[in-house]
Amino acid sequence: MGPGPITVDPRILSAMSAQLVGQYDPAMTAYMNETQALYREVFRTTNEATVLVDGTSRAGIEAALVSLLSPGDVVLVPVFGRFGHLLREVAERCGAEVHTIEVPWGEVFTLEALEAAVREVRPKLVAMVQGDTSTTMNQPLEGVGAMCHRYDALLYVDCTASIAGNPFEMDAWEVDVATAGLQKCLGGPSGSSPVSLSPRAVEVIRARHSVEAGLRADPESDEDTLPSPARIRSNYFDLGMILDYWSEKRLNHHTEATTMLYGARECARLVLEEGLENGIARHRLHGDAMLAGVRGLGLEVYGDVEHKMHNVVAVLIPAGVDGDAVRAEMLNDYGIEIGTSFGPLAGKVWRIGTMGYNARKDTVLVTLASLEQVLRAHGADVAPGGGTVAAQQVYAR
Ligand SMILES: Cc1ncc(COP(=O)(O)O)c(C=O)c1O
Repeated sequence: MGPGPITVDPRILSAMSAQLVGQYDPAMTAYMNETQALYREVFRTTNEATVLVDGTSRAGIEAALVSLLSPGDVVLVPVFGRFGHLLREVAERCGAEVHTIEVPWGEVFTLEALEAAVREVRPKLVAMVQGDTSTTMNQPLEGVGAMCHRYDALLYVDCTASIAGNPFEMDAWEVDVATAGLQKCLGGPSGSSPVSLSPRAVEVIRARHSVEAGLRADPESDEDTLPSPARIRSNYFDLGMILDYWSEKRLNHHTEATTMLYGARECARLVLEEGLENGIARHRLHGDAMLAGVRGLGLEVYGDVEHKMHNVVAVLIPAGVDGDAVRAEMLNDYGIEIGTSFGPLAGKVWRIGTMGYNARKDTVLVTLASLEQVLRAHGADVAPGGGTVAAQQVYAR
């Protein structure tokens, strides 16, 4: 019940135990096509360029930024938690000129504040996180893409923690590039990063396109003769080459991580079988129950609760209680993992997730009942049954 990774849905585990097939086996290429179509629905987009990047969510982030950014490009990164800092760092490593704006952790940006910064900085790219897991905040994105486009900037969003548990509307919100991971509300393991690119973003990447010499019929030909200054500065994360591999050209690049493909495909199948909206409603319900439950235990919730992601809550560790000892006892005595956070919030909050396979009534109630026992053993003044009763009231609505 931490902030992810979470307990994987057994159907995904089972899909991932299937035998491997060859890279160009028709079954494999059909799975690739099917997975692209599934993730278009998950991202709520018609983007043809919707693929998986092999690696954890961070691989998707690196692929997006290194493929979009040339050295010297101006980037704006609005930071409201740890993962905004990560975007800044990756953009810096791409050689971009990075500008940041910040709000205190536990808050989000207004559209006006974002626009003021874009007007001033005039970036090529605005790179931001939707749900920053470190603070649990969910940045509103409606209108942000249209605003960026008015200033000729592209919008990149890391929706790893939020997608499938909170609304994410790639096309309606005019997001140019989105990257995700499986280990949160998609209910899978880490290790595959679904990525989607708008035609505008594809155009930027295509302008930097290259083909490896060993793949050309005549390696000495002038076709795509490089290096050119424009060439994307990573081979593995070159989204142009990754798109060629996922297109009907099937131009060889890496060997697709077959087992992760099976897993990613099953994650999306599960989400869409439930219905994206139903799944989001489920995350909202169990998130609300957990929120009411921790308050019912007398705990204080961190941050601007109105902008909290549905799937994770951060609670302040009560004064005098050893947060790590409580987490250890939850794990050792009750088999339940909860998290703390990073940087300024390390040891100050517990983060409790209700996501993917773990967004269920039984997991919420058992976590609250266990937390009550452990807190009492650590001298905290908790109302008997306060957590489960408050959660049950949410379920009874
Ligand atoms: C919002 C967000 N972005 C990026 C990451 C990095 O993901 P990974 O550890 O899968 O590379 C995480 C991980 O928790 C995350 O929550």
